[in-house]
Amino acid sequence: MRIAVLKERRPAEARVAASPDTVKKMVALGWQVAVEEGAGAAAAFPDQAYRDAGAELSADPSMVVFGVDVVLKVQRPLGPGEGGLDELALLKSGTVLIGLLAPYAGDHVTRFAAAGLTSFTMELVPRITRAQTMDVLSSQANLSGYKAVLDAAAEFGHAFPMMMTAAGTIPPARVLVLGAGVAGLQAIATARRLGAIVSAFDVRAVVKEQVQSLGAVFIEVDAAAARDAETAGGYAKEMSEDYRRRQADKIHETLKKQDIAICTALIPGRPAPRLITEAMVRDMKPGSVIVDLAAEQGGNCELAEHGKIVTRHGVRIVAHANVPSRVAADASSLYARNLLAFLSLLVDKETKQLKLDRADEIIKATLLTTGGAVVHELFGGAVLRPAAAAVAAAASTAA
Ligand code: NAI
Repeated sequence: MRIAVLKERRPAEARVAASPDTVKKMVALGWQVAVEEGAGAAAAFPDQAYRDAGAELSADPSMVVFGVDVVLKVQRPLGPGEGGLDELALLKSGTVLIGLLAPYAGDHVTRFAAAGLTSFTMELVPRITRAQTMDVLSSQANLSGYKAVLDAAAEFGHAFPMMMTAAGTIPPARVLVLGAGVAGLQAIATARRLGAIVSAFDVRAVVKEQVQSLGAVFIEVDAAAARDAETAGGYAKEMSEDYRRRQADKIHETLKKQDIAICTALIPGRPAPRLITEAMVRDMKPGSVIVDLAAEQGGNCELAEHGKIVTRHGVRIVAHANVPSRVAADASSLYARNLLAFLSLLVDKETKQLKLDRADEIIKATLLTTGGAVVHELFGGAVLRPAAAAVAAAASTAA
């Protein structure tokens, strides 16, 4: 089997889909790996490290993908009119494409089908135990949570830990984490390690113990409503109007006493819940910092501007694009391992050649197109199903 790793060409993308470590493992499995020169440079993986791992390198992307069975990407390939190289045009019919293909936005799923690609999108890997090693949402969100706290610290004009010095005592920073999923829990742990006093809020009651075990205070709005706030898949539901009003009051009061707010609250397939209004920002202490990791989905803070750092009412509001890419080396290493684990699903255990088991739950959940057709149940046919349509609308609003 031949595998290609292309350089990422989209703005604000420093990650790469294979590391020298995963290339070495692929080569050991008997696969040939072609890597585009410079593909790992922004993630601190030099070309020589890929060569040492057994990859063939080429500066010409059309040579890299020539005759390959599988193309590994972080983000979906650039198409015609997207600026720069038309990567999609390089891929031959029948190629397996694996990446974060953003299937909800735009019409590229149909374009993958038209190009004859067998495409898999990693965002849709189900959150089941067997798929944990392939769970890119978790591997990337964990690093985003960590980086969000460091980004907050960099913008904050005070220290995080309490410091007792001869010149006086510096009080510890107070951090509020909104949303205690994968990113939020890592943000809590990171802020605690830096010495901050941390509190956290989530609509799902089950996270209360996890928050407390990390040494943070769990802020509760309505314990009874919170017990019913989780879907069977472990995600949050959208809450009632009454709950949202009481939640807003609680967040407003809490924020007045905080220095930092880290926003990570998301609802799959919906725009991000609006948790911090302009009135709340106005009441925060001057010099406070908000980091909004939900900005790509519309933002938890209504003043966040995706891809920018702005100051509003004396508060710094940070909403970097593509936060995992800001920890590119580790994000790439973990993403590459997620892809390697996923690849092992797509090959025959004996021959190590491609063999798709369309009945496999993980394959079924991630396979978008094959044989010239869109086969995913969320995107099948010309008319999107209501759930997919809602997500597509949310994604286009966020864009
Ligand atoms: P996510 O990124 O969709 O959401 C982040 C957090 O925001 C969640 O904790 C959610 O409850 C919270 N949230 C949503 N609306 C909110 C609101 N209005 N106010 C405050 N918080 C709000 O979720 P993520 O982090 O991807 O995963 C959520 C859960 O999924 C995990 O905690 C876990 O239970 C489950 N999971 C299971 C895995 C597995 O079994 N392999 C792997 C990863 C996650």
